[in-house]
Amino acid sequence: MKGIVFAGGSETRLHPITQAVSKQLLPLYDKPMIYHPISVLMLAGIRDILVVSPPGDLPWFERLLGDGDQFGISLSYAQQSRPNGIAEAFVIGAEHIGGDSVALILGDNLFHGPGFSPLLRRKAAQLDGCVLFGRPVDDPGRYGVAELDHTGRLVSIEEKPAVPRSDLAVTGLYFYANDVVDLAKNLAPSQRGELEITDINTTYVERGTAEFVQLGRGFAWLDTATPDSFLEAAQYVQVLEHRTGVRIGCLEEVALRMGFIDAEACRELGERMRSPYGGYVTAIAGTAPTRIQAATSDPPQTRP
Ligand code: G1P
Repeated sequence: MKGIVFAGGSETRLHPITQAVSKQLLPLYDKPMIYHPISVLMLAGIRDILVVSPPGDLPWFERLLGDGDQFGISLSYAQQSRPNGIAEAFVIGAEHIGGDSVALILGDNLFHGPGFSPLLRRKAAQLDGCVLFGRPVDDPGRYGVAELDHTGRLVSIEEKPAVPRSDLAVTGLYFYANDVVDLAKNLAPSQRGELEITDINTTYVERGTAEFVQLGRGFAWLDTATPDSFLEAAQYVQVLEHRTGVRIGCLEEVALRMGFIDAEACRELGERMRSPYGGYVTAIAGTAPTRIQAATSDPPQTRP
């Protein structure tokens, strides 16, 4: 499975913050936001990742992340010349995807919860059509909203509805079979002139091949689309890291625990940074790494 981080869009809801720079380069407390979505793809076992962003920002992403070799992954970059919608990522990334399946993650989404890596790897292995990940939220009208029937089957998705049919948001992490590339190439732009990810997902719902995985109780999902949600996400990272003593979205640690790099390489990465983050990376290289194992069975899908 290939990975795409979509760091495009016009981000008008954060102006003037994002007028000059892509928000995914900005910090969520101790690290750039884009570390979080990349870490999710790595936790899914994906090592070949394309970053899609507006042309002006690409050099900055490259300067930050390079070719990914330091994390034992391959990173490449492609530009979205205009904010034509999330689903254009599959057209831009067609060559990168090749004949593979693909995971798309939005660059402003933060996921944190127990057993995430085994869940992701299992869903990637079982993929048939698409897998969507949902989470109950207080403000569903800000998102794609999923409607389930009484058996829990996904029956519709509506993008930012005025009157949401449920409180279940469709998060910005999506797994697709290879046919998503052709679907995206043949997709008509919506009324606002964008290739909508919800239209892609609706096609799989209509075909009966969209699996909807509910991230259960104890799982955190945050986005940074508004000034408040941006600040909350940064505060979440800060409080969690202070109170647990572990860092989240730490690419060096994920690479080590996934077995993509060894302890020596991790230590070298830590020593290059004269910051508390660098000190953490150096320290974890010295502890016996707990390898993240893939689980063999589905955890219960509970609602809070
Ligand atoms: C996008 C998608 C929406 C999804 C959300 C998750 O919205 O269109 O369906 O629920 O991401 O973050 P955006 O925030 O880009 O408007």
